[in-house]
Amino acid sequence: MDAEYHTTIETLEKLRAESMDAGGTQKRDAQHRGGKLTARERIELLLDDGSFEEFDVLKLGRGGAIGDAKSYPGDGVITGHGNIDGREVFVFSQDFTVVGGSLGEAHAQKICKVMDLAVKVGNPIIGLNDSGGARIQEGVDALAAYGEIFHRNVRASGVVPQISCIMGPCAGGAVYSPAITDFVFMVRDSSYMFVTGPTVVKTVTHQDITSEDLGGTNVHGSVSGVAHFTAQNDVLCLRDIRRLINYLPSNNRQRAPLLDLRDPTDRIDPALDYLIPENPNQTYDMNVLIYSILDGAEFMEVQPGFARNIVCGFGRLGGQTIGLVANQPAVLAGVLDTNASFKAGRFVRFCDAFNIPLIALVDVPGFMPGPDQEHGGIIRHGAKLLYAFTEATVPRIAVIVRKAYGGAYLVMNSKHIHCDVNYAWPTAEIAVMGPKGAAEVIHRREIQSAEDPEAMLNEKMTQYRNTFANPFLAAQRGYIDDVIFPRDTRHRLIRTLQVLDGKESKGPERKHGNIPL
Ligand code: HXC
Repeated sequence: MDAEYHTTIETLEKLRAESMDAGGTQKRDAQHRGGKLTARERIELLLDDGSFEEFDVLKLGRGGAIGDAKSYPGDGVITGHGNIDGREVFVFSQDFTVVGGSLGEAHAQKICKVMDLAVKVGNPIIGLNDSGGARIQEGVDALAAYGEIFHRNVRASGVVPQISCIMGPCAGGAVYSPAITDFVFMVRDSSYMFVTGPTVVKTVTHQDITSEDLGGTNVHGSVSGVAHFTAQNDVLCLRDIRRLINYLPSNNRQRAPLLDLRDPTDRIDPALDYLIPENPNQTYDMNVLIYSILDGAEFMEVQPGFARNIVCGFGRLGGQTIGLVANQPAVLAGVLDTNASFKAGRFVRFCDAFNIPLIALVDVPGFMPGPDQEHGGIIRHGAKLLYAFTEATVPRIAVIVRKAYGGAYLVMNSKHIHCDVNYAWPTAEIAVMGPKGAAEVIHRREIQSAEDPEAMLNEKMTQYRNTFANPFLAAQRGYIDDVIFPRDTRHRLIRTLQVLDGKESKGPERKHGNIPL
């Protein structure tokens, strides 16, 4: 009996050791030589020490009909759950040392199991992707397996936060699943995302292109907008994921955790009274305002390198997580274009889905004019942001600090699309368009026939500015709830968040709206 018992224990030890060995020492060394951690090392760094509990260590892959028909214990992915600062998360980490982390049937079943559990118990799911996509040897079974993951990504969307981290060359389904999730992290010089890799590109289009140029961090962090965060290496990337999780609730029924950063709620910043330059055409950095008002000057910016004319990100006010959307006058004068509208629209929808109050800091001269933007669909992209702010039912606040012109004023969380509380600084200019454009349209004949057209234009601009380009008319109408002193902004926002805390808002019954995607 004893001997049998020991044999069973030894069998388990042997099977587990085989699974832990995965692709073997040589492939693990190659992974390290490429500047990458192994799938297990990544999990250890992501989670609190010793908190990882693994599932399906012994699950076997089915092997393939062609090529490498061997089946591997664990099938190239490590799955389970553990803690981030004491809060439970589910995780999967693909192992590139096993058939390039490619996704076969068993591999996918393991991922689906933790995704299902994450939704059932209401905890975030974090995927560490390092995979060549559908496992070619498993044919249609691998494609079917990806379909199961996509299905779960969509079902989990808006229910639990889904975070994807790209930690190697990822192709095919290994990028489409992350694309459906809420946030995509990438690692500089070792992670790439493409629908098909450079080899396939060469075969199909005869083009020579490097992985970096096809889908590196520069491409996805600043051109395509696919990546929300980029990091210098695996270690820093995993640290950033932990940081993000701290801003988020575990699911759509909960609130984000409160964190007291010991920053007085009534702290004022007199320097803000001098932030806006006297010349309305002069730029300034919106980050000065952002970092001044947030608790502990801590801000986690989302997509910092993409559409830099709008700033989106998470911070805290009075300990509470808020989602911040701010025009950036230092880039393209803070204008709204296709990329900025898409970036902010998606961010607003995430916050709304996960009970995170929204604050807009407004200094927007309008939508970007011109054929490039019109042909690129500024109408439908701009409509995304308009739709997103309008449908959001979380507490919503806006502060107009300078320009708020035309359609862009309406879109940026104005009272007219049912923002809850709207403030303006005395420097705000709220009007249909800027003084120059307006004077040229409504006084064209007078200006043309004047002895000194330039002097006449200036006179009309001054007249227009005095009448319309200030916050007082809007305040008289009640479209602005108060014109506040810039130095008081932090305190006023925190008090407003407190009063909006019990907000309840429900729209009409429907299956879902039809956002202009
Ligand atoms: C099976 C794969 C694989 C795959 C890589 N490997 N991708 N095995 N299926 N999809 C294996 C390789 O054969 C190799 O095995 C090992 O993984 C490491 O790959 P290398 O090519 O040596 O590594 P590297 O040079 O770093 O290149 C990585 C790569 C490249 C860029 C990912 O392997 C590649 O282009 N793979 C194909 C990517 C692709 O086009 N996938 C699309 C699948 S379709 P050995 O034994 O030599 O170590 C798909 C559809 C889903 O996913 C649905 C989408 C909507």
